[in-house]
Amino acid sequence: MLTTDEIRELETEMAIYPTRQAASLGALRAVQRRRGWISDEDLRDVAGYLGMSADELDSIATFYSQLFRKPVGRHVIRVCDSVSCWATGAETAVRRLMETLGIRLGETTADGRFTLLPSACLGVCERAPALMIDEDVHTNWDAARMDGILARYP
Ligand code: FES
Repeated sequence: MLTTDEIRELETEMAIYPTRQAASLGALRAVQRRRGWISDEDLRDVAGYLGMSADELDSIATFYSQLFRKPVGRHVIRVCDSVSCWATGAETAVRRLMETLGIRLGETTADGRFTLLPSACLGVCERAPALMIDEDVHTNWDAARMDGILARYP
């Protein structure tokens, strides 16, 4: 069930757009910001609030890789697997990162701290390799710098 604060945030989103449906992406992001991911129940609640079917809203939720339909860790790491990053050594660095975290791409650490996901180009190819942790972009990263970067995300 949506909380009063969540409904208030959805109303703020809806005020920006001409229709409730147009606010669907913002509404899903608002719920995810508060809950970490979007469960089936959350999806049904938001769809009902927006006057959409759950299937319609799910097609939007599953289209955007920034929206999570399964639980994720407190921090989500997205490693770019596109060509510039690959060419600048991301593959080796990602292998080391997986060893450090003890997980593979698509998995979450046992302590729930990190989820590791592949990503298409993050748009900073000139500073490859690149990754994102939550909303932060880290560029020119390598395995040697990774411990220092991870330490910023308790
Ligand atoms: S290819 Fe990695 S940021 Fe563009």
